[in-house]
Amino acid sequence: MKKVLFVCLGNICRSPLAEAVFNDRVKELGWIGDSAGTAAYHIGEQPDNRSIKVALGHGIPISHNAKQFEVQDFDHFDYVIAMDQNNYNDMKSLLKGGSVDNLFLLREFDPENTDSMDVPDPYYGGEDGFEKVYDMIERSMEPLIDHIKSNS
Ligand code: 4NP
Repeated sequence: MKKVLFVCLGNICRSPLAEAVFNDRVKELGWIGDSAGTAAYHIGEQPDNRSIKVALGHGIPISHNAKQFEVQDFDHFDYVIAMDQNNYNDMKSLLKGGSVDNLFLLREFDPENTDSMDVPDPYYGGEDGFEKVYDMIERSMEPLIDHIKSNS
């Protein structure tokens, strides 16, 4: 059994969507996907309506109570997957100079990644930004799952 945590800033837009897509893809494997945010702004909230809309539009069930990432999550989860470089750096800084080998960027696994390693923050934009986020998550998910399988 593998436990994977997806992490963004607010834990209401990108990472709950990644968690939902992951859980949909690993149903048969019994793995567990979860998500968290590096910031505390939205603790306890359900995902943003635009993330719910895009998930349901792709037939993916989505529900999550936002929570804040804690440094102990590096021990609780087999993999911690950051949505962007800021999230990655913020989590790393909690290690106070220490290192972990289970922290990755989601778009390291995106086969169509040519420009940036970031899943861009869609919060202040329109619904089309959420579709783009979904596409990046969807493209990256199978390669991520294959990577985890091949490292088990
Ligand atoms: P997320 O998006 O990190 O993908 O959940 C955001 C949600 C909320 C805020 C920023 C980004 N905010 O500033 O409240």
